[in-house]
Amino acid sequence: MSCTEQELSTQDMLQGHIDLHHHLYGYHKSMALLCATDLGIPGAIHRRGGAATISDIVADTMIPPAKLPHLRRLMRVLSVSGIFAVEEDVYKLTPASRLLVGDKASCNFSPLVHLVVSPAMLTTFSSLSPWFRDGRNASPTALFEMAHGMPPWEMMKRDDTMNSALNDACVADSSFLMEIALRERGDVVFRGLRSLVDVGGGHGGAAMAIAKAFPDIKCSVLDLPHVISQAPDDGTVCFIAGDMFEDIPPADAVLLKHVLHCWDADDCVKILGQCKKAIPARGDGGKVILINPVIGYGVKQDSTLKETQVLADMNMIAIGGAEREEHEFKKIFLDAGFSDYRIMPVLGLMSIIEVYP
Ligand SMILES: C[S@@+](CC[C@H](N)C(=O)[O-])C[C@H]1O[C@@H](n2cnc3c(N)ncnc32)[C@H](O)[C@@H]1O
Repeated sequence: MSCTEQELSTQDMLQGHIDLHHHLYGYHKSMALLCATDLGIPGAIHRRGGAATISDIVADTMIPPAKLPHLRRLMRVLSVSGIFAVEEDVYKLTPASRLLVGDKASCNFSPLVHLVVSPAMLTTFSSLSPWFRDGRNASPTALFEMAHGMPPWEMMKRDDTMNSALNDACVADSSFLMEIALRERGDVVFRGLRSLVDVGGGHGGAAMAIAKAFPDIKCSVLDLPHVISQAPDDGTVCFIAGDMFEDIPPADAVLLKHVLHCWDADDCVKILGQCKKAIPARGDGGKVILINPVIGYGVKQDSTLKETQVLADMNMIAIGGAEREEHEFKKIFLDAGFSDYRIMPVLGLMSIIEVYP
């Protein structure tokens, strides 16, 4: 049957043709972003005071001049998609590329680019359709494991480059988000706590920010031994090597930032069950604090947010986790024995959720 027989207007057919190609070529945005980050283009523009010509970029990044026409094409893709701005052949940083430059951890998300667009993740997603078809087990192997023969946390343990990329990306994300979270919601969420344990807290980016803003809160970080062994221990927080499925040290509050989305609902219930054992009753100030996207939150204010939320959820398929809607969180909280929760207004992509025993 031809398209015309399906009664598509010419205009619909041509629009469909555009939309299909928009999807087909969509991954070139990620590849172009990775390439620009590798070549150091955002940093080169930044060092020129935030504006640079293509010749400046060629000179500063030591790209062979013969590649200049191709560099123009790369820059055109990244300008059309909002990573750079261009005016009369001068490229400028946008708020997005501003997050890829600088020494301060909160301003440099380059490790995240290297992690999300890593060969390991690209290989993982090329197994997506065989993974969907694989129905041999009741609890099927996670996509990452099917592609690499080991779970992601095992690969992090064995592969120093991946481990560092994850830990550096987490520190960047934590420095950035916690600065805003503490400024906007710090008093409501953290004031009055005597102790807090950041579970799956990586190299302690979030816990250190909380400890600096609220020196009276005794902050600890629990993570796996291979992560804690490389953590920068400056005495601000206490690092504990352990397993959140087995034991969580007691504290007034447990922080789970970007942790539950790595796990399926059953594992989330187990993790929250351990959290519940670690905190006092609600009347004594006990709570779990989640910093996580909630699908659907804040989307009225930003049309790209919903798409970003669901793409982030797709990314989580790789490791057997998920981004969730409010009703899915609610079920997990209830199944883990919690009585109530409160979602705070969104921090861009993130929400803060307080969960009460
Ligand atoms: C996505 S990272 C989030 C890190 C940090 N909370 C942040 O937001 O930047 C998930 C963290 O959970 C840790 N993790 C995974 N399994 C764990 C376990 N069984 N016990 C403790 N931590 C674990 C990982 O090592 C990693 O640091």
